[in-house]
Amino acid sequence: MNGRMLVLPGDGIGPSIVAQAMKVVDGLRDRYGLHLETEEALIGGAAIDATGDPLPAATLTRARAADVVLLGAVGGPKWESLDIKIRPEKGLLRLRSGLGLYANLRPALLHPQLAGASTLKPEVVVGLDLLIVRELTGGIYFGEPRGVRTLANGEREGYNTEVYRESEIRRVAKVAFELARRRDRRVCSVDKANVLEATELWRNVVDEVARDYGDVALSHMYVDNCAMQLVRNPRQFDVLLTTNMFGDILSDLASMLTGSIGMLPSASLGEGGRGLYEPIHGSAPDIAGRDIANPIATILSLAMALRYSLDAPAMADRIEAAVSRVLDNGLRTADIWSEGMTRVGTGAMGDAIVSAL
Ligand code: IPM
Ligand code: MG
Repeated sequence: MNGRMLVLPGDGIGPSIVAQAMKVVDGLRDRYGLHLETEEALIGGAAIDATGDPLPAATLTRARAADVVLLGAVGGPKWESLDIKIRPEKGLLRLRSGLGLYANLRPALLHPQLAGASTLKPEVVVGLDLLIVRELTGGIYFGEPRGVRTLANGEREGYNTEVYRESEIRRVAKVAFELARRRDRRVCSVDKANVLEATELWRNVVDEVARDYGDVALSHMYVDNCAMQLVRNPRQFDVLLTTNMFGDILSDLASMLTGSIGMLPSASLGEGGRGLYEPIHGSAPDIAGRDIANPIATILSLAMALRYSLDAPAMADRIEAAVSRVLDNGLRTADIWSEGMTRVGTGAMGDAIVSAL
């Protein structure tokens, strides 16, 4: 197995969680012969500070040349006063769009050892295994026109546009149906078709795509109901297919079912095998530099990279088993800690996972 990975640590807790994933790469190299060339580049606030641009051209070029990109997180208070067009988050959005990564896979899997760490009752979340497929390069995140204008009466008005082309809906829907075939063969498409035309089209196109997947059961749900169902009975879902904005919101919600947002990895895929892998959480500037962030979401993102882009499922299995073993042994970062468990920092959690490989 050969591959090239571009590593983008980013901001806040990004560098320290990515450093733990790199320890895992080294461990797999030394002990199991993983062949993965890695190099680092700048994104987000770190890139703004160094070059004035949250996604320097050199970073995008190197990302295009890589098989996989592993990203930590971007953003922080330091850059919040900048124009929205050049904020750290724009770097990430341009990277997703520049690489054509329209399908974002966000699995929410409850590790049984963490049933007690969820804020929901264990009986609601035990056995949870759902996959959110979020459209990632369209919708209101990218729609034009957008901006803030001043009206004739002097009042300011902000506006954004939710826009979806048929082809954009079709290709991400196909990804959801294909993935459902490898799972429980159920897709629930989430929209607001009762109010928004763009998502009424979404619903119709998903129905059309479903005709090619007679073996997969399709249902539709309004996003407000879905938010409610996710906390009422999350195990009813297998694959959730949804728009960019709804997927952003519902995946944060789903992460808490698993105990902590620090546990959820993600994969962003387009045509071809290349992918961007990142934890779903942000840069958590409030805890940056304190060695308390949970590196597991990033380490599990590396496992997804090995599975989906690098054709190394056995290496991915090793990582996932190592995480499970460390949880079995009672090690917990602060976000998933509960009575009787051993609290460890970011670095110690990384070391423990490497030892358990
Ligand atoms: C996510 C994040 C990003 C998003 C931000 C950082 C731009 O919240 O990956 O969910 O909104 O997509
Ligand atoms: Mg988000």
